[in-house]
Amino acid sequence: MVKNVFFFFLVLGWVSGGRAQYLTIHVDQSGSSDFKTIQSAIDSVPSNNSQWVCISIKPAIYLEQVTIPYHKQYIYLKGEGNEKASIVWESRGSFRSSPTFSCFADNIKVENLNFVNSYNYHHKAPAVAANVVGDRMAFYDCGFYGVQDTLLDARGKHYFKRCIIEGAVDFIFGAGQSIFEECTIVVNVGKSRREGSKGYITAQGRSGANDSNAFVFKNCNVTGSGKAILGRPWRPYARVIFFNSSLSDVIVPYGWDSWNYANQVDQLTFAEINCYGPGSNTSKRVAWEAQLSQEMTEYFVNITKFIDADQWGHHGR
Ligand SMILES: *[C@@H]1O[C@H](CO)[C@@H](O)[C@H](O)[C@H]1NC(C)=O
Ligand SMILES: *[C@@H]1O[C@H](CO)[C@@H](O)[C@H](O)[C@H]1NC(C)=O
Ligand SMILES: *[C@@H]1O[C@H](CO)[C@@H](O)[C@H](O)[C@H]1NC(C)=O
Ligand SMILES: *[C@@H]1O[C@H](CO)[C@@H](O)[C@H](O)[C@H]1NC(C)=O
Ligand SMILES: *[C@@H]1O[C@H](CO)[C@@H](O)[C@H](O)[C@H]1NC(C)=O
Ligand SMILES: *[C@@H]1O[C@H](CO)[C@@H](O)[C@H](O)[C@H]1NC(C)=O
Repeated sequence: MVKNVFFFFLVLGWVSGGRAQYLTIHVDQSGSSDFKTIQSAIDSVPSNNSQWVCISIKPAIYLEQVTIPYHKQYIYLKGEGNEKASIVWESRGSFRSSPTFSCFADNIKVENLNFVNSYNYHHKAPAVAANVVGDRMAFYDCGFYGVQDTLLDARGKHYFKRCIIEGAVDFIFGAGQSIFEECTIVVNVGKSRREGSKGYITAQGRSGANDSNAFVFKNCNVTGSGKAILGRPWRPYARVIFFNSSLSDVIVPYGWDSWNYANQVDQLTFAEINCYGPGSNTSKRVAWEAQLSQEMTEYFVNITKFIDADQWGHHGR
């Protein structure tokens, strides 16, 4: 029944063509609209669809795991109104099956939603709030909350704008090719069960010398409580760049850690350009911190060049 309704509106969308940019379906826990859960709305989108579908989500706490499978592209998940809907799950285990939110499809846009993995509020273990695997994905005004391994920015070209990402240990990690613009990065070591130990903001996973991925933080605000480093390499060619960002005194003077690659630091690209704030003084940074040329800097911080060479462009907001 629901599926038939969906196709009916899809046809309507085409008929009104040109003007209507996408079909919208609604999620509301009260049951007064199309779907009660976010996953059931995603399930209603036909596999291999090639039209944008907006799933509009009424503010509430959704206690469910949400997955966008590989064959469901062109989904636009949108939290309605000012108060963000939160998707909350509590689990640890495989990165493939345990995260609160997983997206395996390409061409996905997400706006105004919070993703929470609350497992770490009681236990210590990797507990991913979002696993972002598809290519050409954009997140606007979203929140990612956890402690260890909050955001698995696994692979593909991604854009995060005005998002909040919170955690303590390796909480932005993976081999994504991503720009984080105007995001707030919150270190919560001081509030989590890891109080007193050191935090690690990034654990970037670039594994080969010719791989195109890197994490670029542009005009961001790094804040929070406790002490943390900007990053350590998950893989031997890790690249992380903080550009024109505010760094609070949560950042320790040496800034970065070589983890398992102390003998290969020349392969790492960890750089800071034009950062400011009490944690930004680079005079005591590790000696191997990278110095980027102006040309390389311009490449990494330019959205068109670094993540949008194929002009997928749903970063217009
Ligand atoms: C979607 O496309 C894939 C790859 O072309 C195909 O294997 C799969 O059967 C399709 N699914 C549906 C429901 O059409
Ligand atoms: C990386 O690219 C260079 C230049 O194209 C090539 O010579 C080299 O073999 C590549 N290395 C790897 C590991 O693929
Ligand atoms: C960064 O965020 C903190 C905490 O919200 C805030 O106090 C501070 O003013 C922000 N700094 C900048 C430069 O926006
Ligand atoms: C650097 O950050 C400041 C404050 O957020 C902003 O006004 C300025 O436009 C940024 N510069 C660049 C080159 O993005
Ligand atoms: C950075 O730290 C060094 C050593 O502690 C100090 O001499 C220098 O004045 C600081 N620079 C700034 C811009 O605060
Ligand atoms: C970014 O790169 C594009 C494509 O090369 C170029 O047209 C644009 O002027 C660049 N933007 C900035 C701010 O340099």
